[in-house]
Amino acid sequence: MKLLLFGKGGQVGWELQRSLAPLGELVALDFDSTEFHADFARPEQLAETVRSVRPDVIVNAAAHTAVDKAESEPEFARTLNATSPGVVAEAAAEVGALMVHYSTDYVFDGSGHAPWHEDDATGPLSVYGRTKLEGEQLVARHCPRHLIFRTSWVYAARGGNFAKTMLRLAKERERLTVIDDQHGAPTGAELLADVTAHAIRDTLRDEAKVGLYHLVAGGETTWHGYARFVLEQAAAAGVELKASPEAVDPVPTSAFPTPATRPHNSRLDTAKLEATFGLRLPQWQAGVSRMLRETV
Ligand SMILES: NC(=O)c1ccc[n+]([C@@H]2O[C@H](COP(=O)([O-])OP(=O)(O)OC[C@H]3O[C@@H](n4cnc5c(N)ncnc54)[C@H](OP(=O)(O)O)[C@@H]3O)[C@@H](O)[C@H]2O)c1
Repeated sequence: MKLLLFGKGGQVGWELQRSLAPLGELVALDFDSTEFHADFARPEQLAETVRSVRPDVIVNAAAHTAVDKAESEPEFARTLNATSPGVVAEAAAEVGALMVHYSTDYVFDGSGHAPWHEDDATGPLSVYGRTKLEGEQLVARHCPRHLIFRTSWVYAARGGNFAKTMLRLAKERERLTVIDDQHGAPTGAELLADVTAHAIRDTLRDEAKVGLYHLVAGGETTWHGYARFVLEQAAAAGVELKASPEAVDPVPTSAFPTPATRPHNSRLDTAKLEATFGLRLPQWQAGVSRMLRETV
């Protein structure tokens, strides 16, 4: 089997390089790859790459993920998040490949308190959310053999992340203020990559499994709860902090105005994914503790 991965250097792309490798021959590309064109800013070149590689499976982890920046460059965000995935999907259908793509909780308007289901009405609040929604619609339309995973609050051990920022601030300051009215589940890039590999194998055996799925870690928290958990874990591991977990003060989203509006309710219901693929998604704390033990 041959697999083609776009966005190999991102949080999820990096972990996919590991999790997809045992499935077959992996061609992993980034926007500056030289052997094949993989720059999502230039959609017109992407079909040729797919035709040249002729993969059995395409996994797209490339995206414009700078949520606030997207507000001031909507056309660029649209090219990366919608037009290019659409072009890749068309080419995937042409060569008979299964296409895997990622989307986001930001396709929803964040109202209510219940976890969102796959078929709930969307209502993105930001350019990022709108362009990601258009992207998933184009992928589904052009390539019926697809797996689209909507996820949220992605972190990875590699590079910067929210947990590392909280730890740094807790070493520098006596008190922190963190938003407590956005609800969701921090989800590790490792978990996303592992579930993706499993789902690909399963779907190639049973084509009825193609479709759209919500994929996040179990349980829920707020950014405030997430920050406190990180500091509790660090304190228990003997890391010296100026700010204790109790010194993290909850504030509403309005305390930190940003160009892009974020949804308050980012809870995603994962029952469809768990039932279809026979998986149980671990609680969010498990992955965050593991990442902290690896990086702190
Ligand atoms: N991060 C989150 O919290 C989150 C939440 C929900 C859903 N998602 C979705 O999950 C997927 C993976 O996200 P992630 O967290 O792994 O994002 P990421 O770390 O920002 O990775 C995005 C990747 O896209 C690449 N990229 C940027 N511009 C490109 C271009 N012009 N052509 C080709 N590649 C380009 C980036 O390369 P460089 O690093 O070199 O720029 C990077 O490798 C995305 O579909 C994202 O929308 C993410």
